[in-house]
Amino acid sequence: MRIIKAADYEEMSRKAADLIAAQILMKPDCVLGLATGGTPVGTYRCLIEKYQRGDLDFSQVSSVNLDEYRGIDRENPQSYWYFMHDNLFHHVNISPERINVPDGRNLDAAAECRRYDRVIENYGGIDLQLLGLGLDGHIGFNEPGPAFVMDTHCVDLEESTIDANQRFFESREQVPRQAYTMGIRAIMQARKVLMIVNGKNKAEIVRKAFFGPVVPEVPASVLQMHPDFILIGDEEAFSEIEA
Ligand code: GLP
Repeated sequence: MRIIKAADYEEMSRKAADLIAAQILMKPDCVLGLATGGTPVGTYRCLIEKYQRGDLDFSQVSSVNLDEYRGIDRENPQSYWYFMHDNLFHHVNISPERINVPDGRNLDAAAECRRYDRVIENYGGIDLQLLGLGLDGHIGFNEPGPAFVMDTHCVDLEESTIDANQRFFESREQVPRQAYTMGIRAIMQARKVLMIVNGKNKAEIVRKAFFGPVVPEVPASVLQMHPDFILIGDEEAFSEIEA
């Protein structure tokens, strides 16, 4: 595990974008595992700026997103499909046929999860996986549980996750209760994993996840075992650890 300290959200975002840009420069046809949430918005903004300056070419890049709500349309502004297009894909030259997000419109969970695992397998895995961190230690939507779940699967979201995601919806009732998420295998088999964390509210879970035992009750803790895991955080997120 490599820890990179940033002064604030802007610097965290810049550093993360620099690492992603380096990956694309080294391997123009790389497979990026991408994440949603508030944390990566700044990183995507920096990537768009690099593209607009002519420093980055997404034409050969493929993307596989971590997760999607079950039972949501792509046109719904709260869908992760919409989020990714709004925050990144519409602003760079990635090919639409190379964009992959679990299909929230498919209510057949078993079929959709199998399909998504095949998509990842057919790419030969992920070169760089970008992650945020849930307040309960979730990555993607891998929620705390009695065991790490390896394959793409359908999850019942924790109450705390529904609370955290409520800010994006008009009311709590509108937050979907289930989601499809990439499993721990695809994340752990990514050749490089990059997590970004910011803000005081992440400080406690950062300490638990990366300075406590590796347990499925804190899903992100499994990343301690990854051979190329980089954690970039701001001072507030690192305020409970000696970074
Ligand atoms: C969401 C997403 C995760 C994300 C996390 C943290 O529920 N499914 O992929 O990393 O919660 O979100 P945020 O970055 O807004 O704190």
